[in-house]
Amino acid sequence: MIMKYLMLICLVAFLGIGNLAAQDFEYVGAKKCKMCHNKPATGAQYDKWAESPHAKAMESLNAEEAKDPKCLKCHSTVGGVDASLVATLKMEEGVSCESCHGPGSKYFPNAIMKSREKSMENGLILPTEKVCKTCHNAESPHFKGFNYKEYVAKIAHPVPAA
Ligand code: HEC
Ligand code: HEC
Ligand code: HEC
Ligand code: HEC
Repeated sequence: MIMKYLMLICLVAFLGIGNLAAQDFEYVGAKKCKMCHNKPATGAQYDKWAESPHAKAMESLNAEEAKDPKCLKCHSTVGGVDASLVATLKMEEGVSCESCHGPGSKYFPNAIMKSREKSMENGLILPTEKVCKTCHNAESPHFKGFNYKEYVAKIAHPVPAA
């Protein structure tokens, strides 16, 4: 009897942990980042992104192309990720913050963001050339080549040095 009870506890604990591990990071959209990353003093990352070709990537597609998964996979963050992980991110956002920085549902709270280590444990990515090349490659019908140094300078949105 006690044995059976212990096994039940073990099973519940096991399932509990299993559930936790199955909880994936979800995509929340750029508006969630805007509340903390749009002050001029710290670099106005949101406005810089909003003016960039990435935020406007859906505008390059006509009505038909805007429904074509073959184009959407690179022209919108939503089109390139597992639909079950899309929380509040919108297709119209085009290539949004989370295409490069990873899905933000777990790292965006301030207490986590304040620590780079904790943020990275919760899904934050500090992107390298490899991330860019998931889209900037010859599969793109308009591929113009990709020079990382040149391209990353064009979309720079640093926190200004104090
Ligand atoms: C509640 C406020 C808050 C929100 C919301 C938020 N951040 Fe942050 N973020 C911070 C703070 C604080 C830092 C620490 C560095 C700093 O002071 O700028 C930071 C740092 C970062 C960094 C730099 C990390 C490093 O160590 O170099 C990135 C990249 C970043 N955030 C991306 C995002 C993205 C993408 C979102 C939206 C999904 C987001 N943040 C939402 C507050 C926030
Ligand atoms: C593998 C990723 C990828 C796919 C798939 C893709 N694109 Fe693009 N597209 C890009 C990138 C990256 C650029 C920016 C051009 C560059 O710098 O190489 C771009 C640019 C464009 C432009 C702007 C033209 C220009 O000269 O800058 C148009 C229009 C466009 N794509 C339409 C489409 C359409 C329509 C489809 C679907 C048939 C599509 N793309 C599929 C990645 C992709
Ligand atoms: C999810 C796909 C995706 C990722 C990841 C991505 N890009 Fe892009 N990028 C695009 C698309 C699509 C366009 C074209 C937007 C348009 O004009 O329609 C583009 C355009 C650009 C442009 C403008 C090119 C031009 O012709 O003027 C630059 C610069 C750029 N990307 C840099 C980068 C860098 C640097 C990275 C990595 C840090 C990166 N991109 C990651 C999809 C992506
Ligand atoms: C096309 C890819 C791409 C997109 C889209 C993008 N970023 Fe970044 N971001 C980068 C790269 C590359 C860096 C530089 C990383 C490094 O220095 O290691 C960076 C750096 C940052 C930093 C740290 C800056 C610093 O100086 O410490 C913050 C904060 C940030 N991004 C926030 C955002 C937010 C918020 C959005 C959306 C509104 C966004 N990013 C959209 C690629 C991107």
